Amino acid sequence: MSTDPLVVFTPSGKRGHFAVGTPILTAARQLGVDLDSVCGGRGICSKCQITPSYGEFPKHGVTVAQDALSEWNSVEERYKSKRGLIDGRRLGCQATVQGDIVIDVPPESQVHKQVVRKRAEARDIVMNPSTKLYYVEVAEPDMHDPSGDLERLVAAIEADWGITNIHADLHILQDLQPVLRKGDWKVTVAIHLGDDENAPRIMHTWPGYYEGAVYGLAVDLGSTTIAAHLCDLTSGDVVASSGIMNPQIRFGEDLMSRVSYGMMNTGGAAEMTAAVREGMNALFTQIATEAEIDKGLIVDAVFVCNPVMHHLLLGIDPFELGQAPFALATSNALRLRADDLDLNIHPSARIYLLPCIAGHVGADAAAVALSEAPDKSDDLMLVVDVGTNAEILLGNREKVLACSSPTGPAFEGAQISAGQRAAPGAIERVEIDPATKEPRFRIIGVDMWSDEDGFEQAAADTGITGICGSGIIEAIAEMRLAGVLDASGLIGSAEQTGTARCVPDGRTHAYMLHDGSATGGPRITITNPDIRAIQMAKAALYSGARLLMDKFGVDTVDRVVLAGAFGAHISSKHAMVLGMIPDAPLNKVTSAGNAAGTGARIALLNRDARGEIEDTVRRIHKIETAIEPRFQEHFVNASAIPNSADPFPILNGIVDLPDVSFNTGGEAEGGRRRRRRA
Ligand code: FES
Repeated sequence: MSTDPLVVFTPSGKRGHFAVGTPILTAARQLGVDLDSVCGGRGICSKCQITPSYGEFPKHGVTVAQDALSEWNSVEERYKSKRGLIDGRRLGCQATVQGDIVIDVPPESQVHKQVVRKRAEARDIVMNPSTKLYYVEVAEPDMHDPSGDLERLVAAIEADWGITNIHADLHILQDLQPVLRKGDWKVTVAIHLGDDENAPRIMHTWPGYYEGAVYGLAVDLGSTTIAAHLCDLTSGDVVASSGIMNPQIRFGEDLMSRVSYGMMNTGGAAEMTAAVREGMNALFTQIATEAEIDKGLIVDAVFVCNPVMHHLLLGIDPFELGQAPFALATSNALRLRADDLDLNIHPSARIYLLPCIAGHVGADAAAVALSEAPDKSDDLMLVVDVGTNAEILLGNREKVLACSSPTGPAFEGAQISAGQRAAPGAIERVEIDPATKEPRFRIIGVDMWSDEDGFEQAAADTGITGICGSGIIEAIAEMRLAGVLDASGLIGSAEQTGTARCVPDGRTHAYMLHDGSATGGPRITITNPDIRAIQMAKAALYSGARLLMDKFGVDTVDRVVLAGAFGAHISSKHAMVLGMIPDAPLNKVTSAGNAAGTGARIALLNRDARGEIEDTVRRIHKIETAIEPRFQEHFVNASAIPNSADPFPILNGIVDLPDVSFNTGGEAEGGRRRRRRA
């Protein structure tokens, strides 16, 4: 057994014997311990900070003496006096082994640190970005051994960091000579570490040691909005988030109208490409200004989007996506450069587009799969990304199926008579008393219910302006529960329902949710056409999910994950009363927030995740709803509230669904269904 001192690293538990005088950084590297360094052990970067522990460690079988590390040295003293160092910390490249020692590597000194996500069930992101910073000292030119500055820089990087086959763009060469001389032959380089298609590449150089960060963008390019997170590529922190409306909206609200705009107008697709790229550049300027950074420091960007947006971003006419067999120009992941897409960030910034799953199931669904990982779930998991188009994934470790379903914009408040986007003043929660049929509601921006004292004053600033997507879902579900709406989607008359809130509206009826007309405000009613629009949207969503369940050979799922910004606000009970999602225990219906955006962030911060999702996508079975005969049958059944064929036993065990019918024009038929307990 070695008589050299034992070095134990925590939290990894890695241990080994090292000769007296070995720097801790060297020991860490030899054991494969994750200890960061940008300056290569020169005492400049302070990334290698460690915390030695002294005393008895029975767990590790060591006793650590006070002199187990070399003495505090002048490099550490200089660093501490200039920039500060937490008491008890040492620089791993300066402290050397003198005796048995236990060394803790704090999270901020780990290269592959975890970025903790807020949701408990979510996987943490392990940092492993594509672009990293390295500090090197380059040999000066020598007349007796002529070589270019770039060649000597590359040789220094190879020698210090073991990165080979490094390339550099022209703009690097244009700046290199002054940078090297200004830094007295010391330089920090940002290197994109390469991937399956590209060799490692120098992205940027700074004279001397560069203290700052480089950044990446995770972009969720939706048909309605474009949202971006700006992330520090070293810490993984989101330093700014911002979003804009997709400027393509002026060419059509939904995807198919944009495809037809391209078909009907010469140069239409190119116009839409220019619009989205311009919008993106405006967004990037906005986000960089907000974070107070130079846009030129954004060296990496990951995009997720649906197939039509994917093609329009790339400058590909989406014509083929508008007709069977819905062929994509490519479904593979793409590795491009910012200037390929006219994006004004760092000129060589790398762009990564996640793979598309199929002609109707895009890179956004792939990003949801990366974030929610149904392929790693033991439970059978249904993941629904609710937007203008619903992307649906169903699977577990065994297999994953995917489809998309055209829900249209009704869930976002469009096509609804009093509908509006989620904004202050919009009704977002609704309750209707089953006995009196009287409603109460909450609006965005006010924490009180409408029947609470002080609500009117609190709502005075914004007013009560309309109803947003989550509000309309709750309103319709509550109407169904209160017996003012029947399973077919008809609203009863005042006589049939016993409430004057049901008012005639043409040949049908509407339910008066709020009448602000006395004070000049709006009358907010839920009309039968509103109900129809939601029925169509929810039937599209449910029948897509049901079709995947058929293909999987199951009638139930273990859990349901609602993704998308809208998914975050839907009440699971009301979604189930409406029959948007399959019957499942309510505590097994959870919201994942913007899972597509999270997937983009994972792919940005961890380059291995890119290969992982490409592999997963290859294994996902794609189902094309348009050609599946059972889709139509499911759709018809799912038009009823909640469903005319599927029984929803769990839901029926917790709520009373009144068995009313308003088809006859006469009195409401039937009574309440007997309450069944699951
Ligand atoms: S490795 Fe840079 S200061 Fe220690």
